[in-house]
Amino acid sequence: MRQAAQSVEADNMPPLGIYLHWPFCSAICPYCDFNVYAAHKNTADPQDWLAAYRAELTYAHGLRPVGPVHSVFFGGGTPSLMPAELVGDILNHIDALWGLAVHAEISLEANPVSAPAPHMHKLRQAGITRLSLGVQAFDDAALRFLGRTHSADEARRAFDAARAIFDRASFDLIYARPDQSLDDWQKELSAALALAPQHMSLYQLTLEPETPFHARARHGKLALPDEEVAADLFELTQSLCTAAGLPAYEISNHAAPAHICRHNQAIWQGGDYAGIGPGAHGRLTLDGKKHASLALRQPQEWLTACREKGHGWELNKLSDAEAAEEAVMLGLRLTDGRPLAALAAQGVSFDKAHLVALQEDGLLMARDDCLQASDKGRLLLDYIIGRLLA
Ligand SMILES: C[S@@+](CC[C@H](N)C(=O)[O-])C[C@H]1O[C@@H](n2cnc3c(N)ncnc32)[C@H](O)[C@@H]1O
Ligand code: SF4
Repeated sequence: MRQAAQSVEADNMPPLGIYLHWPFCSAICPYCDFNVYAAHKNTADPQDWLAAYRAELTYAHGLRPVGPVHSVFFGGGTPSLMPAELVGDILNHIDALWGLAVHAEISLEANPVSAPAPHMHKLRQAGITRLSLGVQAFDDAALRFLGRTHSADEARRAFDAARAIFDRASFDLIYARPDQSLDDWQKELSAALALAPQHMSLYQLTLEPETPFHARARHGKLALPDEEVAADLFELTQSLCTAAGLPAYEISNHAAPAHICRHNQAIWQGGDYAGIGPGAHGRLTLDGKKHASLALRQPQEWLTACREKGHGWELNKLSDAEAAEEAVMLGLRLTDGRPLAALAAQGVSFDKAHLVALQEDGLLMARDDCLQASDKGRLLLDYIIGRLLA
C-alpha cells in the first residue's frame, strides 16, 4: 500500500515523526493519568475518527510540509482497540501527505487482552511494524493490584504472538511497587529477560495526582518503596539488563542496539513530531523556531474542532530559553547524552565553568565533546539543568 517516499528532506530541518493518540481503554488503571476514557464512552464511529485524524494531519502538513515521515507512533490509551482499517487509512493519508520513509518505524501500543493474534495480523497488514505491549507485571497478584485485566500467562502468550507477527516487539513493566523487595524484582525481571526480549520499557511506579492510587496513598493505604529502596531497585534493573545485553539507552528504556525505538530516540534528540489526536503534544520547527502544539483533550471537543476548523490544536512558539532547556533535558535522558555541537545547533549555550563544575561533582561525564549525565546525574536532571543553564 505504501509508496517509497520521494520527498526531499531539507538539510536544516530535524527529522519528522508523527505521534497519534487514541484516548480509549477497556478499563482505566488506578495509577494512570494519561488522557484516557473508558472505551464505552466512545460514541463516534470510525469514519468520524478517520475524518478528524485526516483533517488534523492535513493541517500539520500545511504548517510543516517537508518530509518524509521517519516514524509513526500510535499511543494511548490503548490504540490496539482501533479498527485495523482505521490504522491503515491513517497511514495511507500520512504517506500521501509527506511520504513515509522506506524503512519507517510504525509502532502501536497494545494491551495484552485487546490484541488477539488475528487482530495483530490485521494491524501488521495495515502497516504496523512494531508492537509495544503493556504487560506491567509478570506476577498475577501484582497485576490484580495494578487493576489489570490480564494474567501473566496471557501477557506471555501475547508477547510470543507479537514477536511472531511484527518486525519488532517490546513490553512495558512497572516496578518499585509497594512492598516489592529486591528479591521479588530480581525474580520477576529475570523471568522477563528469560523471554529474550529485544526492547523493554521499565518504569518505576509513580503516584500521579488525581488518580485512585494517589488517593489511597493520601489515606495511608498505599506506600511506595522509600528512596533508598527505589535506588537499589533501579541499580538492580541496570545490572540485570546490561548483563542480558539490554542496556538502558534512556532512563527507562532498554534495548539491544538494533532495537532502540527510533521514534522516541529522535524526539529525545530534538526531532520534530506532529502530535495528532485528543490531548496529543507535538513539537514542530516552523520558521527556524520550535513550536509546541497541544490538542484539545476531550475526545468530543477535539472531534468537533476538527470537523469545524480542521484541527484541535493550540500552537505556541517556545522562547529560546524554553527550547534550550528542553533540548538539554531530553538529551540528558539518553545514556549517550548529546554532542555539544548538536546542542549548539539547537541554540543551546552555557558557561563552560558550569559544565566543568558538574563534571567535577560526578553528575556529568568528563567529556569535551558531549553533554552526558553520569548514572548518578541521570536521576537528578532538574538539578543539573538548573546549574548548567543558570
Ligand atoms: C499508554 S500505556 C501502554 C499501552 C496500554 N495502554 C497498556 O497499558 O497496556 C503506557 C505505559 O505507561 C506506563 N505507566 C502509566 N502510568 C504509570 C505510572 N503511574 N507509573 C509508572 N508507569 C506508568 C505503563 O507501563 C504503560 O504501559
Ligand atoms: S496504563 Fe494503559 S490501559 Fe491503563 S489506563 Fe493507562 S493507557 Fe489505559
